[in-house]
Amino acid sequence: MSTAENLPALEVRRLSGSLGAEVRGLSLSKAVPEDADRLRELLAEHLVLFFPEQNLTPDEHIAFGRLFGTLESHPNLSTDAERPEFFELHATGGAGAIADEWHSDLTCQTQPSVMAILQMRKCPEVGGDTMWTNQYKAYEELSPPMKAFCEGLSALHDAHAHDKPETMAIHPVVRVHPVTGKRSLFVNEHFTRRIVELSHDESEALLGFLTRWAGNPRFAVRYRWTEGTVAMWDNRCTQHCVLNDFEGERVIQRVTVMGDEPRAAAELPWEPYVKSLSAASRHDRQLKRFLDGRAG
Ligand SMILES: [Fe+2]
Repeated sequence: MSTAENLPALEVRRLSGSLGAEVRGLSLSKAVPEDADRLRELLAEHLVLFFPEQNLTPDEHIAFGRLFGTLESHPNLSTDAERPEFFELHATGGAGAIADEWHSDLTCQTQPSVMAILQMRKCPEVGGDTMWTNQYKAYEELSPPMKAFCEGLSALHDAHAHDKPETMAIHPVVRVHPVTGKRSLFVNEHFTRRIVELSHDESEALLGFLTRWAGNPRFAVRYRWTEGTVAMWDNRCTQHCVLNDFEGERVIQRVTVMGDEPRAAAELPWEPYVKSLSAASRHDRQLKRFLDGRAG
């Protein structure tokens, strides 16, 4: 068993002014719980970490992930019968089989995952970088009145993009991180459909602004992969987006750590706004269905 004193020194190199660091000096296949404690601290500081030249086997990948919590299966992706928490995803450039919209993973669920750990198995011939954004910063750089307004709102998220529009959840628009205590913006273009307390038109306008703002390049890091590199990110305070500009096959392996329920800083002051149902937009009907289901 290692102790804090004899753990190997880590080399940490920041990759942008907003988030992201490359970490060397640790073989993840040999990581012990004390290493996981150090990586949790680094993750709280940098939000996404990259570990080049790891080349984990599927079982090593799973074992590393379990140092951070219980792993979950992915309801929208096929599973390996022997390893239900492990996914290998193949995509071919231009085929659209990747998440090329900004998102936090599975915010359509009541408890979105808290962390993802991904390994690049096969790089495409060109392109296919991934970008992440810092959602603490997206919140912090809003004006004081906009912050106060957003803190009183919640939003409906669904899996429409995965052909499962009935998978829905409502989350606060600004959430408080359970570990750092910091507030972050929590709406994304891939899953978020409707601000619950606003009318349809008001929601469209505000969500249009917030989802564009969340992806501001000033809050971002862009990472160019090499094969065998592992990335881990905090899904509670970041968004990510794969650049669908690549040619050739791109293969990744991933595990995700089970989630928690996003919490607002305080009780939300307003009721859901459902009076505009006569306008009968798809999202109005969907919101009403969700609220009726919850009441029942
Ligand atoms: Fe994702």
